[in-house]
Amino acid sequence: MAYLQATAIGHPNIALVKYWGNRDDLLRLPSNGSISMNLDGLYARTQVAFQPGLSQDTLVLNGREETGKALTRMASFLDLVRRLANTNFYAQVSSENNFPTGAGLASSAAAYAALSLAAAHALGLSLDEAELSRLARRGSGSACRSITGGFVEWLPGADDYSSFAVSIAPPTHWDLVDCIAIVEPQPKATGSTEGHRMAITSPLQSARVADAPRRLNICRKAILERDFDALAAITELDSNLMHAVMMTSSPPLFYWQPPSLHLMKEIPDWRNHGLPVCYTLDAGPNVHVLCLGDAAVQVKGRLEEYPGVFKVLTSKPGGPAYLE
Ligand code: DP6
Repeated sequence: MAYLQATAIGHPNIALVKYWGNRDDLLRLPSNGSISMNLDGLYARTQVAFQPGLSQDTLVLNGREETGKALTRMASFLDLVRRLANTNFYAQVSSENNFPTGAGLASSAAAYAALSLAAAHALGLSLDEAELSRLARRGSGSACRSITGGFVEWLPGADDYSSFAVSIAPPTHWDLVDCIAIVEPQPKATGSTEGHRMAITSPLQSARVADAPRRLNICRKAILERDFDALAAITELDSNLMHAVMMTSSPPLFYWQPPSLHLMKEIPDWRNHGLPVCYTLDAGPNVHVLCLGDAAVQVKGRLEEYPGVFKVLTSKPGGPAYLE
């Protein structure tokens, strides 16, 4: 029997209101809702081939065979898909990113969005967008936001069924650009999965979570009304809140490098001098500098000259994950 294969593309996303901490780690039910923008131009391309006769799943990531945690995590995820499709075939999976892995650029979001779509298709499952988002969530929480396109909200839900992401505006809705200042290309020391488990050890997490519905409302409204100043204020606040939780967890997590902090201090000054720009950082030192499209060339130029920044990637709002 021929093997069953498919290839899909998934974009990473940048969170404007962040996901940090789970109510249920196994199901990846988040402590709070989140909002993000998909990143066009950056992608993971994931190829899945199920085959009878294989004795286990295999994973090649950016040309390198993975054997440790990354493989175990993917195999548990594929068990979910196998259960849905009622099959016991193992799979050969190969995934490539066109951006640095594990450096705060949500590589797992792009990869698990692509893997969900490819694996479901390869096994003949016809899942709608909400079902795919729910499935992707089990692989990596933020991946549920990369299934659909543009500006996306992950509804935290009350259980597995009600926790998935929906698009709140298409990519064409707002000409924003994410200028990603790469200050460190190395993979981070503590991954998000471990960080989510530690969030609750910070005395600040409960306050961050309790205030999340208010921030989500402001962020959603700012996007729908294309109000850059409102978006800038809530995006920077939310990033600072998450990093305050990280830094006060036990043990503390410091994701910034010196150039990250320099930029965080300077970018609000650029805005006060008329440049429509704001910052946000995920679980890594790279600084996502969001700006209006008209300002992108200037912002990119400034960042490229900035001490400690050695590369700047730019990205417009991206579309949904898709089959190749
Ligand atoms: C800081 O989705 O990478 O980027 O579910 O364990 O894979 P796992 O975590 P992940 O966490 C993302 C954390 C974040 C904020 C965000 O994207 O909302």
